[in-house]
Amino acid sequence: MSILKIARMGHPILMRRAEDVTDPTDPEISRLVADMLETLEDIGGRGLAAPQVHVAKRVVIFHLNDGRNAVPEVLINPVIEPIGDDRVQGWEGCLSVPGLRGVVPRFRHIRYRAFDLDGRVIEREASDMHARVVQHECDHLDGVLYPQRMDDLRLLMFETEAKHHLNGIVLPEDVD
Ligand code: NI
Repeated sequence: MSILKIARMGHPILMRRAEDVTDPTDPEISRLVADMLETLEDIGGRGLAAPQVHVAKRVVIFHLNDGRNAVPEVLINPVIEPIGDDRVQGWEGCLSVPGLRGVVPRFRHIRYRAFDLDGRVIEREASDMHARVVQHECDHLDGVLYPQRMDDLRLLMFETEAKHHLNGIVLPEDVD
């Protein structure tokens, strides 16, 4: 296993559609996922998409809590479908956009389907933070970074400033 280098905003691999994985059980994909897990653990983020480690394949990993024993979920060729059109604003950050935070509208409820490393179909419904993380990571597979989803760029700011001034920042209302 190895820790991989993270592509940052401006690198072309973050701007294009990643390719479908033809065989989720291919050992090459297991190796990629193992390296992504090690990389995520080393850097300490919530999720990672393969294009962020310079691999243009439709693979993402994420975990939902910060506990050390959290088991990450692996999604291969994920497809998202919104449930309803309720959207919520929330803060996001991204390992490919270091040092910044922004307020991004996302669907509150989604359904997603993907393959796991054994080639089995995963099908889940997710809400709120879980739904947000999946939408953020899957956007990477389509060459989309979170600032492109924002509707008020005044709410794109350096992490240090956001923390410092957070009390004075009024989040926009939920959108619909
Ligand atoms: Ni990201």
